[in-house]
Amino acid sequence: MHSAADSLAPDWLVVPEDVNDLVTAVWPASARRDADGALVIAGVSAPSLAQTFGTPLLVLDEDEVRTRARTFRESFDAAAAENGTTAQVYYAGKAFLSTTVARWVVDEGLRVDVCTGGELEVALAAGVAPASIGFHGNNKSTAELERAVEVGVGSIIVDSAIEIERLAAITARLDATQRVFVRAISGVHAETHDFLATAHEDQKFGFPLEDAAAAVARIREIPGLELAGLHCHIGSQIFGVAGFRESASRLLELHAELLEGGPVPQLNLGGGFGIAYTRVDDPTPIQTLAGEIVSAVAEGCAARGIDVPALAFEPGRAIIGTAGVTLYEVGTTKDVVLESGAVRRYVSVDGGMSDNARPALYGAQYSARLASRTGIGAPQLSRVVGKHCESGDIVVDHEYLPEDLVPGDLLAVPVTGAYCAPLASNYNHVPRPPVVAIRDGRAQVIVRGETIADVLARDAGIVPASVVTAER
Ligand code: LLP
Repeated sequence: MHSAADSLAPDWLVVPEDVNDLVTAVWPASARRDADGALVIAGVSAPSLAQTFGTPLLVLDEDEVRTRARTFRESFDAAAAENGTTAQVYYAGKAFLSTTVARWVVDEGLRVDVCTGGELEVALAAGVAPASIGFHGNNKSTAELERAVEVGVGSIIVDSAIEIERLAAITARLDATQRVFVRAISGVHAETHDFLATAHEDQKFGFPLEDAAAAVARIREIPGLELAGLHCHIGSQIFGVAGFRESASRLLELHAELLEGGPVPQLNLGGGFGIAYTRVDDPTPIQTLAGEIVSAVAEGCAARGIDVPALAFEPGRAIIGTAGVTLYEVGTTKDVVLESGAVRRYVSVDGGMSDNARPALYGAQYSARLASRTGIGAPQLSRVVGKHCESGDIVVDHEYLPEDLVPGDLLAVPVTGAYCAPLASNYNHVPRPPVVAIRDGRAQVIVRGETIADVLARDAGIVPASVVTAER
């Protein structure tokens, strides 16, 4: 029996039967509660993690990342084999990149997609074979491109006519040959359930379809460049297959035309596979998506009488998102009486928009659970907020949490593995939290947390203690 919903609750939020439950879709598979009711992930309890590493803390379940990486590779391998082709899976490092995570995904047979010189250096420092790296970006500098060509990245996804000329000069200077994809705009823009298809999309990435053929023609004239094929990324947090299908069909039209001028060995359909952030999200399983997308491509090829090209995909969020859980400590709670008489409980935690900007940036919805114990009170509609000096500093907009929540309790926010740490800031001079990987009951820092000294270190007006001492 569900209790009555709070009048301030959005329609999609149900009152949980058990306010301590851990809904499978949003927690790592290893998540459970121990005999004391504390949250345990990969055999490590939330209180012990908080005690050892402090809060806020981003915890990554290594097995969850590895399993998802493996599932992607196996699903696309199987779907490709069924359709007489092959598929490469690149992990989109922008979702979360550190040398440790790069090694995990490579170990599981993935390649790595980077989109800046910085991300490229992380992948190289991790020992990722340059040939397994794809390099993205709409404004790669000459220095970044030169570094990429010099180390021998497997592919560069070119985004503009200017970039093609930069690469012509660089490959000539270095006497190198570089494989390149041409990033095309299919006009399909997809987000969650729907997609929008337009002929002319008003955005910064890639070549409009009608200009992509000219870009390919120019690439074919340049001795140092070798065409890999077309690339397209239609959006992020996509649940259905329809957007991918429409985009692939539009790209195949051009792909078939390009074949008349020479080989076009690959087709890269980008990333964007959606995951559940709350209990109402219901993304299509990756095995199903992989099967449907690849067979749509194969059907499109059959209809045009061409061979199915080798395929490539670039999932980020769907590999790392659900593996991440952020632990916070509750600092204060406050019941705010609104004009309507409704009461909203504000729960303030020791992090916020500096470690997860997604609610503030995109209105992203999350969930939360009491992690240090099981709550005994009734579910109370709560808004979890951070410690920043800004009213939009929301961590979880709407969640039912136990009424007996008190300062000192630990809260866990799941699905923070993707696009949280990479978007972190030092807003209000708050140090960025550490990232800890856990597996088989063991925890290891993979990105150290910042100290206040780190945060102050860039302020050129602070006189180092040694200088002050010397002047005295
Ligand atoms: N490939 C390309 C060319 C991309 O631009 C992206 C994401 C991906 C792959 C990976 O997409 P994924 O599989 O992770 O959805 N900060 C936003 C998401 C930005 C996505 C940017 N591009 C967020 O937090 O929702």
